[in-house]
Amino acid sequence: MNTTISSLEKKHFPVMLSEVIQTCLASNKDQVILDCTFGGGGYCKELLKHPNFKVIALDRDKAAVKRANDIKKNFPTKFTFYNEKFSNLDKVVKKENKLDIIIFDLGLSTFQLQDYSRGFSFKSDKKIDMQMGLSTISAEDVINKMDEKNLKLIIKILGDEKEAGKIAKNIIKARAIKKINTVTELVGIIEASKKKNYNKRINVCTKTFQALRIFVNKETTELIEGLIKASQLIRSGGKIIVISFHSIEDKIIKYYFTNYSSNKSNPSRYMPIENNQKNSFFEKYKNNFLTPGPEELIKNPASRSAKLRQAIRTKQKFIYPKDLKEKFQKYINIENVEI
Ligand SMILES: C[S@@+](CC[C@H](N)C(=O)[O-])C[C@H]1O[C@@H](n2cnc3c(N)ncnc32)[C@H](O)[C@@H]1O
Repeated sequence: MNTTISSLEKKHFPVMLSEVIQTCLASNKDQVILDCTFGGGGYCKELLKHPNFKVIALDRDKAAVKRANDIKKNFPTKFTFYNEKFSNLDKVVKKENKLDIIIFDLGLSTFQLQDYSRGFSFKSDKKIDMQMGLSTISAEDVINKMDEKNLKLIIKILGDEKEAGKIAKNIIKARAIKKINTVTELVGIIEASKKKNYNKRINVCTKTFQALRIFVNKETTELIEGLIKASQLIRSGGKIIVISFHSIEDKIIKYYFTNYSSNKSNPSRYMPIENNQKNSFFEKYKNNFLTPGPEELIKNPASRSAKLRQAIRTKQKFIYPKDLKEKFQKYINIENVEI
């Protein structure tokens, strides 16, 4: 392992690790666990220490393959890894796998954020790339090719940025003079566009960067597809655990777990009445979620916006939850805007 990676590894704190492990340990039986977001392998390494657990992991990032191979050397029969997006999890995992737990720890890994050549960090002076892996466009394409109206829409809706109009206008003005090549150039444009009395607690670029990253990686579409496939593949009595970091993700998870749980009797108007009465993929869901404890917040302040939600699958036969997609169609449409 080279020194850059090992120094990053030291700073890699898997978010809410003890809460995730405790949830998995709740049953003493043999368990098959699917980690849809391998990242630095923080959860996987801890789970594999348990003699009764087998772990299957996915990550869309090619850079995760080497880290996964290192783990595989120590656990050749208990660990399998696929370089795949979780929207395709049904391609690599079959129902026969009888998954007991499926975990999603959304967003970026420390490795991605701290590798400045990937262009996720405001501190980077490299290309504005922002591809997590298996993406088809880069943020550089978006910044330099997208029209002003759609650029504004993406920054406003996916970043919840009030000054989206001004930022989009200034990007168009800047690129008319010269192609915007680096993160430093983009940061300069955003800073010049923002009013001075901004919220000092978060960087002025946070919302625009979030919007670009979500768009480039189609993160809301991924989450919706991933959750649907997870609820299709998990065994009855199995748990889906999701850790989210921003309000769009949390809205989707909360909606799905609440409206498709046994405390709701009518999750979809597309379903026949007799199915409506019974169609509840998840056991009673009361909008409960966990957040990082005070010790974790001190050790890793970046975990402050994390929310862990979990739902338990019922015996209910899977019927495609069209209503979930319809509810969040606005985000899916935005993520599909052509450049
Ligand atoms: C927050 S990190 C996970 C950290 C991990 N829990 C750990 O303990 O090290 C999120 C990871 O999920 C991956 N990821 C994000 N969206 C994905 C998707 N749609 N499909 C597969 N992997 C994804 C990212 O590439 C990143 O490596």
